[in-house]
Amino acid sequence: MSFAAELHLPQDVIVRGGASREVGEVAAGLGLARVLIVTDAFFVEQGHAGRIAERLTEAGIATATFSGVQPDPTTANVEAGLAALAAHEADGVVALGGGSSLDTGKAVAVMAANDGAIADFAGYHLIPRPGLPLIAVPTTAGTGSEVTRVTVITDAASERKLMILDDHLLPRVALADFELTRSCPPDLTAHVGVDSLTHAIEAYVSAKANPITDALALRAAGLLRAHLRRAFYDGGDDEAREAMMLGATLAGAAFSNASVALVHGMSRPIGAHFHVPHGLSNAVLLPTVTRFSLAGAPARYAELAEAMGLARDAEALVDELDALNAELGVPTLGGLGVERGHFDAVKADMAQAALDSGSPGFNPRSASAEEIVGLYDTIY
Ligand SMILES: NC(=O)c1ccc[n+]([C@@H]2O[C@H](COP(=O)([O-])OP(=O)(O)OC[C@H]3O[C@@H](n4cnc5c(N)ncnc54)[C@H](O)[C@@H]3O)[C@@H](O)[C@H]2O)c1
Ligand SMILES: [Fe+2]
Repeated sequence: MSFAAELHLPQDVIVRGGASREVGEVAAGLGLARVLIVTDAFFVEQGHAGRIAERLTEAGIATATFSGVQPDPTTANVEAGLAALAAHEADGVVALGGGSSLDTGKAVAVMAANDGAIADFAGYHLIPRPGLPLIAVPTTAGTGSEVTRVTVITDAASERKLMILDDHLLPRVALADFELTRSCPPDLTAHVGVDSLTHAIEAYVSAKANPITDALALRAAGLLRAHLRRAFYDGGDDEAREAMMLGATLAGAAFSNASVALVHGMSRPIGAHFHVPHGLSNAVLLPTVTRFSLAGAPARYAELAEAMGLARDAEALVDELDALNAELGVPTLGGLGVERGHFDAVKADMAQAALDSGSPGFNPRSASAEEIVGLYDTIY
């Protein structure tokens, strides 16, 4: 057993109810004078973006807001955000929202300091220069994007979800405030919560797991399993919301350093082709892909089961994932309205895109293109 480990995180990670109200002091502390807020239309309508802008203004910072982020953000969203950044002559970015807004904010902040287009940097460690300082304020629990060195941007031209990993994508500060998640409806709570749980599970069984990411992943898995149903049934359960936010942040820190694996590799092509939300496509895949992968690391899956309050048994984990999906009302792909002919026509391409993303390479059991097509058929 090796005790070597490595961890890359934002310099400051603040997980606390009300933390988003500290954004003015935090931005001023970074020496920022002109900030671009990157968010989506919902947060402008609901007044959240306005409240963040007020806090920045009180701290003497000039703000402008770009609210053109769409779910599963595209290269076009990033270009529009960059134009807004240039027009405001911003020296920093505050990203406010779900993973889509955070990922767009990250891409805009690095592209402000790098030549070319964001699609040029798809893959691992290809971004030459650090970007503008970024403060990430998540509103879902969640992608964990506020602490990850990852951004996922859909290439408008190829319809592929590009996975871009680089230390320059790390926010400078993460302000994880569960109070912002109170407005998440049950379906969104369920989908983003299963995304977090998937991060914890995949980070723990990944070939790149290390002792620090193990500690993060196990704690995350326990917190998420203990509180996801509660947050789903009662969105006003603050204790559950708070625990989910911590779990999402820990799981993000784990997978950003240990990688995700086959579930995420197979999930991104589903999102790109059929516009199924990221957390939901993970949820559809998670029990089936976990069952396939068990043989590659049965002891690790058993440890996860135990950390989640189940028997120390890999089968108990898969049973629980099935039960969770049933309770959260997660359908099959067919049940989601994905048309069979369209699905059959693209599933081989999807399998190739999954393999090309690199994530399946860290799965405890390796999967061929044919096996991945078979798994897609199972979840249809
Ligand atoms: N960078 C990473 O490390 C990472 C990790 C996992 C997923 N992702 C990416 O993140 C994106 C998904 O992010 P997401 O699942 O957080 O959803 P999202 O950001 O796409 O938001 C989905 C919808 O929920 C709404 N919403 C968000 N917060 C809300 C709130 N508090 N109350 C009410 N509505 C709210 C949004 O306005 C939007 O309409 C995908 O593109 C995925 O690929 C990135
Ligand atoms: Fe994810």
